[in-house]
Amino acid sequence: MSTRLVYVCEGGDCTEKGSVELFERLRNMLHEWDPEERRIRVRKYPCFGGCEFGINITIWPDRIFYSKVGVEDLPDIVAHIRGGEPVKRLTGAVRPDVEDIIWQMLDSPW
Ligand code: FES
Repeated sequence: MSTRLVYVCEGGDCTEKGSVELFERLRNMLHEWDPEERRIRVRKYPCFGGCEFGINITIWPDRIFYSKVGVEDLPDIVAHIRGGEPVKRLTGAVRPDVEDIIWQMLDSPW
């Protein structure tokens, strides 16, 4: 089983909207389920280029791009990560070509 990654934007706009707190909360929630980060790792990302739609979160390799995320959305996002359906209301805000650039970057080996 390969490890998935969830990235939380830490760019200026998303930080102003509370992404630092969101990152901490999400990490804590997932830690309860996966304390050794075998299934999912939570990491920060510099900026996804969809700043006006922040807070943005991506899940890789699922290719799920969540926008306008607030702490109230975290239980649904965690449910998705734990095997549920993607949270449709949080998808589709950024342009597809912006998403594609992110997937290309995340897909390429570092
Ligand atoms: S600051 Fe978050 S997408 Fe740019």
